[in-house]
Amino acid sequence: MASASVLIVDDDLNLLEIMKMRLEASGFDVTTARDENEARAFIKEKDFDLAVVDLQLVQTDGITLMREIHEIYPLMPVIILTAHGSIESAVEAMRRGAFNYLTKPFDARELIVQIERALRSSELEKEVQRLRDFLKEEYDFKNIIARSSAMKKVLEQVSRIAQVDSSVYIHGESGTGKELIARAIHLASPRRERPFVAINCAALPEGVLESELFGHEKGAFTGAVRTLKGIFQRAEGGTVFLDEIADMPLSIQGRFLRVLQERQFYPLGSDRPVRVDVRVIVATNKDLAEEVRAGRFREDLFFRIHVIPLKLPPLRERKEDIPLLVNHFIKKFSEKMKKNVNGISSRALKKLMLYDWPGNVRELENTIEYAVAMARSQTIEDDLITVTPASTISSLRPFDEAKSEFEREYLINLLRHTGGNVSRAAEIAGRYRADLYNLMKKHGINPKDYK
Ligand SMILES: Nc1ncnc2c1ncn2[C@@H]1O[C@H](COP(=O)(O)OP(=O)(O)OP(=O)(O)O)[C@@H](O)[C@H]1O
Ligand SMILES: [Mg+2]
Repeated sequence: MASASVLIVDDDLNLLEIMKMRLEASGFDVTTARDENEARAFIKEKDFDLAVVDLQLVQTDGITLMREIHEIYPLMPVIILTAHGSIESAVEAMRRGAFNYLTKPFDARELIVQIERALRSSELEKEVQRLRDFLKEEYDFKNIIARSSAMKKVLEQVSRIAQVDSSVYIHGESGTGKELIARAIHLASPRRERPFVAINCAALPEGVLESELFGHEKGAFTGAVRTLKGIFQRAEGGTVFLDEIADMPLSIQGRFLRVLQERQFYPLGSDRPVRVDVRVIVATNKDLAEEVRAGRFREDLFFRIHVIPLKLPPLRERKEDIPLLVNHFIKKFSEKMKKNVNGISSRALKKLMLYDWPGNVRELENTIEYAVAMARSQTIEDDLITVTPASTISSLRPFDEAKSEFEREYLINLLRHTGGNVSRAAEIAGRYRADLYNLMKKHGINPKDYK
């Protein structure tokens, strides 16, 4: 590893000169220092790959200098030079983190061999570190497709947000990946070994939601037949994800706010406080500021949870993600269904690119699931793409109207696909069954019709 830069610290000027000559002859870039002060000055100025330090320095000893170096460069290999007969100090130096030691007098070739070994090993160590970081990221983010700069920015924010403990407020239209991102934040955070507990505030009746959140003691109310731990307790040390926070009833909002402020609470019917050590992530597809203005959401709670806002762009604003998402989902479903579908025709892809995706990534995922299920060859052809390209009218309708129609069509497709099996439908849709029942009621759809 020629041209690596080496710092040598020794008060023996002759030895210093000889080592410099020999190492330079072998192609190293050598800096020499006569004492620790000179050494410190050089270290501030320049990056070294390795240091050779005499154990007996003028003011202190080589071990102290080595530790100073390691405070700044923890991975820099240090070779200690010891006087003959001081094997104990040499061992001590190794124990304190020296890469190796050489006993004076030594042969220059021996020193060069040691230096080369040390450099190789530190290169390897850096490589392992780099790989480990890479793998960690791969692990955390491997299921998240992000080619558009908008999504890359989101992922970049995710890795920064993960390092702090403040509440995160994710907003984005339905199906944009809010839950996926919430999980990624958890997995990239120091809390990753602890639980991630999710709850949907819109899917549960008020009383049930309250018990789910804060828990209750046995007998706290009629029907409380046993003690229930709330999610703040179950997620201890981890992350709580409150989905559709805009639908949290006002009465619960007050209680939730107090939990965030006081970091402790009393489960219903209990006189023992529970301490809260969780990171809170909330999500909504509504405009929460609007909900505050309308008096449906407490302003003080809004500011509490709005510490770090994270916006997920709708799919139609990042269509460059579509081809990658399509491949990702083809692979996923083809493995799951044990089919050998592995591509999509350009006409089919064009159809997908022209569509506006009111249901965002979830809708795209379902479209591909359907196409893979129906595919008769390795390639998905355009007749299996069931969406109609956004023509002039449909894309210019009011959003609520388009969304409602989408919901209806989506539900019908889902029920057809599952033969009216709501549990299976809920699984595919990634929704609670209660959600689906509500939606079906809204659209007057009866699952029995699809059996
Ligand atoms: N960038 C992405 N890469 C891969 N898969 C994605 C991506 N974004 C979303 N998905 C997938 O799309 C589906 C919907 O995502 P998710 O449930 O996180 O969305 P959501 O915003 O919480 O939706 P909803 O508002 O309907 O609850 C999931 O299956 C998720 O894995
Ligand atoms: Mg969700």
